[in-house]
Amino acid sequence: MSLVKSKKRVADHGEVFTPAWMVDAMLDLVKDETQRIDSRFLEPACGSGNFLLQVLRRKLAAVELKYGKSDFERRHYALLALMCIYGIELLPDNIAECRVNLLEVFAEYLNADKDDDLCRAAGHVLSLNLVHGDALTMKASDGAPIAFAEWVPWAGQVSAAGLPPGHPHAFGVLRR
Ligand SMILES: C[S@@+](CC[C@H](N)C(=O)[O-])C[C@H]1O[C@@H](n2cnc3c(N)ncnc32)[C@H](O)[C@@H]1O
Repeated sequence: MSLVKSKKRVADHGEVFTPAWMVDAMLDLVKDETQRIDSRFLEPACGSGNFLLQVLRRKLAAVELKYGKSDFERRHYALLALMCIYGIELLPDNIAECRVNLLEVFAEYLNADKDDDLCRAAGHVLSLNLVHGDALTMKASDGAPIAFAEWVPWAGQVSAAGLPPGHPHAFGVLRR
C-alpha cells in the first residue's frame, strides 16, 4: 500500500501511513505486550490500521501457540484478543478500512466467513472499539464524548454458570 493517499490529505490531516518494517520495529519495543492476548492497545490516530493489524497478528500468533490444539479455545481467545484492540480515527474512509482490515485478519485466522457467529461478534466489537472521531477533542463524529467498552471475561459467572473459559457468554461490557 502507498504511504500517502494524496498531498491534500497529508497537508490537511498529516496522513502518512507507517511502513510495515517501522511498525514492527516500534512494536518490538513493547514485544511482550504485543504477544499477550489480553493486553490492551489504543491507537489515537489509527488510519487504516497499520499498527493495530500487526498487534492483532501478534496476539493471534500467541493464541495459536497457547490454544491452537482446541478449536473451541482458539476461536474464543481470538475474539478476546480482538476485544483488546482500540482505535480512533478522524477520517471516515480510514476508520471503515481499519474495521474491514481487522475483521479480515480475524476471519482469515479462524478460516471463517462473515456469517460465522464469531465473525459477527467481531464485527460488532470493531464497530464499538474503532471510533470515528477526533482524538484531540475526544469527541466522536456525532459530537458525543468518546467512551470505550471494556470487555472482560466474567470469571465469577463462568464458574457460576458452569461455562468453560472462552464461552461467548463469558464476555460482557462492564462499563462504557
Ligand atoms: C500519520 S497518519 C498515521 C496513520 C497510522 N497510525 C499509521 O501509522 O499508518 C495520521 C492519521 O491520523 C488521523 N488524524 C489526524 N488528526 C486526527 C485527530 N485529531 N484525531 C484522530 N485521528 C486523526 C489522520 O486522518 C491519519 O489517518
